[in-house]
Amino acid sequence: MNDHGHGEHDHGEHDHGGHAHGDFDEMATTWDDDPAKVERARIVAELIDRRLELGPATTLFEYGAGTGLVAQHLAPRVGPITVSDPSAGMRAAMEAKVAEGTLPTGTRIWTTDLDVDRVPGERFDLVATVQVLHHVTDLPRVLAGLAAMTSPGGHLAVCDLEQEDGSFHGDGFGGHHGFDRAELDRQLRDAGFVDVTFEHAYDLRKNDHDYPLFLAFATR
Ligand SMILES: C[S@@+](CC[C@H](N)C(=O)[O-])C[C@H]1O[C@@H](n2cnc3c(N)ncnc32)[C@H](O)[C@@H]1O
Repeated sequence: MNDHGHGEHDHGEHDHGGHAHGDFDEMATTWDDDPAKVERARIVAELIDRRLELGPATTLFEYGAGTGLVAQHLAPRVGPITVSDPSAGMRAAMEAKVAEGTLPTGTRIWTTDLDVDRVPGERFDLVATVQVLHHVTDLPRVLAGLAAMTSPGGHLAVCDLEQEDGSFHGDGFGGHHGFDRAELDRQLRDAGFVDVTFEHAYDLRKNDHDYPLFLAFATR
């Protein structure tokens, strides 16, 4: 079906949306042990690098960065990096990566949750977010926050699930069952982005099923 088919283990994408970060706190210590997650981040970073003009002056913000895998793969191609995650466990994993040099010295680690937080008053050339938007509660609010954090002429890169039947997270998940491209395109434009494009990024294997992930680019 695509050029990036993979097997991902059944564990690790948990079963809730919104603001309960406990599962992510627990999963943080073993997150990078799943080769599929590392591979997904590498592929997304590669696709971003292929598409955008990056360089040592490019400021990067990765939203819902988890263990910072995408920032880590983009690090050699960009300048100053800011990562955020509301999960303390995930932030601890990123702090450890900065300490050991896996993420660059000077990487800033924020708690930002645009569902509830005031939007940080800083803008970035590149804002990236992978497998996060299906967890947010108020999508228009979060997209408006991401737009406010993207420099004029800067870019947003969103990787997430294509619309699915709910089987990805299973019963009890309060987030989004992936996204319909046309609907998300409209919501991104409503938030203030232009030039929205979608491409296939990756197939996530779970429960003997492939869940395709898109990569959307939008310009502020
Ligand atoms: C499926 S993980 C993806 C982590 C990382 N982006 C990756 O691709 O490996 C989702 C991440 O989103 C974070 N998250 C959940 N709700 C969020 C919200 N409302 N705002 C920002 N991040 C959120 C979680 O703490 C978790 O680290």
